[in-house]
Amino acid sequence: MSKKYGDIAGDGGSDIIGQVTAQGERLRSRMAFIRHKVAVMSGKGGVGKSALTINLAAILASQGYRVGVLDADINGPAVAKMLGVRMQSLPTGESGIAPASGPLNIKVMSMDLILPGEKTPVVWDAPTQRDTFIWRGTIEAGALREFLADTVWGELDFLLIDLPPGPYSFSTVAQLIPEMIGIMVTIPSEVAYLIVRKFTVLAQELKTPLVGLVENMVGYVCPHCGKLGDLFYAAGNGERMAAELGLPHLGGIPFDPRLQVSTDWGVPFVLEHGDSPAGKALSHIADKVKLFLGEGLG
Ligand SMILES: Nc1ncnc2c1ncn2[C@@H]1O[C@H](COP(=O)(O)OP(=O)(O)OP(=O)(O)O)[C@@H](O)[C@H]1O
Ligand SMILES: [Mg+2]
Repeated sequence: MSKKYGDIAGDGGSDIIGQVTAQGERLRSRMAFIRHKVAVMSGKGGVGKSALTINLAAILASQGYRVGVLDADINGPAVAKMLGVRMQSLPTGESGIAPASGPLNIKVMSMDLILPGEKTPVVWDAPTQRDTFIWRGTIEAGALREFLADTVWGELDFLLIDLPPGPYSFSTVAQLIPEMIGIMVTIPSEVAYLIVRKFTVLAQELKTPLVGLVENMVGYVCPHCGKLGDLFYAAGNGERMAAELGLPHLGGIPFDPRLQVSTDWGVPFVLEHGDSPAGKALSHIADKVKLFLGEGLG
């Protein structure tokens, strides 16, 4: 009989390679039950990736699709709050950990649901700064792998993945789910565009097909009179940015203060304000994503 790594003296009999292989197999078999995996990304922080993710999830779920959301932001998780599931505890069984259940039965997995306390930050400890960096990257990648392999997602039509700013989680998830596609998000600013451009190149290198570019916070809807005004001077540049990146422009979402309030309250904006300009823009984006994936329009 051939020797397993776990039989070799020195690894304490823990069979690390066997465990990693089994986890990889679990991940692949779970992903096989999920038809579409769509990551929302930017590279730039604070442009509305999480808000877009949960509203797309709500639109798709309201059309009868089975939807899950993976919060891939390990250090700054926001999805559980935005979908109002922070207080749920996650039952663990033989086959893995059950995701939280949000509005319209949207399934949610987030670091926020795993941390023991309301205010607990994620802190990676290591003797030197360099070690911290390496340790942190390794643990983050491990956490993402576990979220994908050990969450009982069941059968889903869509798994939306809310990526944090920065490249590391993106490259980890892209390697774990090679069939994943992406939606790029920017705001109308040259600074954001500079970073989005780098991230688009990264997506090409990681072979993640992009549906297109979403321009968020284009204009401001006055809550009193309902009129649209400019919020950024670069408003309208999204078309040019998309053309330069070689991406379809998926639409512009106006700034609507009710959208921010809805993320704080944990009720997706589109469920209450679907007929607003921002709600309609979000629906059009969902339609374009479905079209890209060959799904019928809702
Ligand atoms: N179109 C919009 N109108 C009003 N508020 C918005 C809009 N888009 C996003 N917001 C709000 O802006 C804030 C930042 O958005 P969000 O957290 O989704 O950004 P992010 O790109 O995910 O940030 P991070 O990089 O930190 O993950 C949130 O409070 C959100 O509700
Ligand atoms: Mg976010």
